[in-house]
Amino acid sequence: MPDNSPADRPPRRVRYRGKNPRRFEEKYKEHEPARYSETIAKVLASGKTPAGAHRPVMVAEVLAALDARPGEIAADCTLGFGGHAREILPLLQPGGRLLGLDADPIELPKTEGRLRALGFDENSFTAHRVNFAGLPQLLTRTGITAVDLTLADLGVSSMQLDDPRRGFSLKFEGPLDLRMNPERGSPASLLLQKLSPEKLARLLLENSDESDPELAQRLAGRMFSTTRELADAVRDALPSLKAEERELSVRRVFQALRIAVNDEFSALETFLRNLPACLNSGGRVAIITFHSGEDRRVKKAFENGMREGYYAEIAPEVVRPTADERRANPRATSAKLRWARRS
Ligand SMILES: C[S@@+](CC[C@H](N)C(=O)[O-])C[C@H]1O[C@@H](n2cnc3c(N)ncnc32)[C@H](O)[C@@H]1O
Repeated sequence: MPDNSPADRPPRRVRYRGKNPRRFEEKYKEHEPARYSETIAKVLASGKTPAGAHRPVMVAEVLAALDARPGEIAADCTLGFGGHAREILPLLQPGGRLLGLDADPIELPKTEGRLRALGFDENSFTAHRVNFAGLPQLLTRTGITAVDLTLADLGVSSMQLDDPRRGFSLKFEGPLDLRMNPERGSPASLLLQKLSPEKLARLLLENSDESDPELAQRLAGRMFSTTRELADAVRDALPSLKAEERELSVRRVFQALRIAVNDEFSALETFLRNLPACLNSGGRVAIITFHSGEDRRVKKAFENGMREGYYAEIAPEVVRPTADERRANPRATSAKLRWARRS
């Protein structure tokens, strides 16, 4: 469809200042990819992710590691936008099915709708708002003994990162929340207000290797209502750093808080512990990580699993995105893929 046909415009376009929309909610064309395919193509060609979407990372490498076959059962433990799932699903047909898990109650129904619109019915695809730490319980509830392939693409989706209302955005002001499931637990603003400087210093070090002693002193116990207030406070606390290093610290503080409010490491550790029991003999697992705290845990669990005889084979080394993919999608830059095959 042409991008500028008057008959095809929505009745009331979002109002914004200037020539082009800048804010997430103003990018109405990007939110309607089926209608504005030209706009989407332009955004993708510029190395950006269209608002409200997510670009799957290392698709070819994930498909090679998972080696999905007709009739098999898959669990995509981090369904997100469904980017990987929509590539895996056809490979399972005829006769196979994919369980899509995600903790996010806001994006999950949208993704379910998109995959249904692509023709995947209840027999081939089901969506579950479940933390992947609870994979064994989900399998029991759905009457499945074990699956043939499992994918976990850790961290947050672009939809979560880019929507300021979710409280992950460093660029735009939003509530300091950082929860994947805003119906559970407490927002990052409350956590920060309750933490002592000692506990915050430990959390920053453990979750994101942020070791500047000044930061915890300056941030702990304070109330920051918005993402911008916190980002500015981090910048103010580190006046002697170069601007680039200061921005890295801002990212590390947000990452550390996000890991804490979502209890990400304990979910990952539980998932890794449960994995061998959830996989059929010969079953494959692929896990994409985005920082050292995640990759360390996956590497160790696979190596231990190999030593203990649960896995017959594990990735000899970590798989990284190609230079082309990193150029086309800078958000893929820090991704690392590891895989294992159940004995
Ligand atoms: C990087 S995105 C996945 C993107 C997806 N592979 C795609 O191609 O569209 C990570 C997703 O995992 C979800 N997630 C993260 N940790 C989770 C957990 N412990 N349990 C369930 N879902 C989780 C997030 O809500 C997010 O939607």
